[in-house]
Amino acid sequence: MVTGQRRRYRLVARLHDLVSLEWPVYRAGRAAGVAAAGLRPGSRVLDVACGTGMTLPLARAAVGSGGVVVGVDASPQMLARAQRRIDRRGWRNVSLVLADAAHLPSELRSGTPFDAVLFMYALSVIDDWRRAWQEALGLLRPGGRMTVVDLSLPAGRWRPLSPAARLACLAGGSNPHRHPWRLLDSGFTDVTHEVLRGGHVHVVSGIRSARLPEPAGG
Ligand SMILES: C[S@@+](CC[C@H](N)C(=O)[O-])C[C@H]1O[C@@H](n2cnc3c(N)ncnc32)[C@H](O)[C@@H]1O
Repeated sequence: MVTGQRRRYRLVARLHDLVSLEWPVYRAGRAAGVAAAGLRPGSRVLDVACGTGMTLPLARAAVGSGGVVVGVDASPQMLARAQRRIDRRGWRNVSLVLADAAHLPSELRSGTPFDAVLFMYALSVIDDWRRAWQEALGLLRPGGRMTVVDLSLPAGRWRPLSPAARLACLAGGSNPHRHPWRLLDSGFTDVTHEVLRGGHVHVVSGIRSARLPEPAGG
């Protein structure tokens, strides 16, 4: 079934990188997220809802040629652009999986667990985001790092920018009231929370405890 969000990204894939405000706004969160994820040479990292692969160069640079980067996305159009990025650079240790993040394929579940999982501007977009979280959590090794970079409306003296932020969220299909980083409130240690761009971008990262938290309802 092609859901609303997946249909949206089928349509916007071609223009996504041009109109996504990447450099003035969102790049800072992406870079901070990869830094917070504590990737090392040789790490295995999963980028959930990787889109056109804008995080892949940062992740690949951090894990080097001896690491593994896997990107998952439900949109073939977005993944086609990510694949072009990979092909241009000739990376052999970066691969893509076409899948709904809420129903990850068994090939991922049966493989070696990941050292790090990234949700970059993703959980506020994915329809069944709680299930996507549980799926990814199941692929993260105990002691591995979960990193969420996502959006809310600007706060404090930046509040006047809220209409612009709301518009950007609307364009990207993102729900700025979801605050999905709160999922790190239980079952994680060493949680860091960086707030950028006047409260519009949140970068939250934590280490998965050995005991998994109970899935939250709703
Ligand atoms: C705002 S874009 C972010 C893309 C990328 N993470 C980035 O930082 O540039 C959201 C992405 O989520 C993907 N997406 C939406 N619903 C999804 C789902 N259920 N499973 C996997 N990917 C999904 C879209 O195809 C799109 O590529």
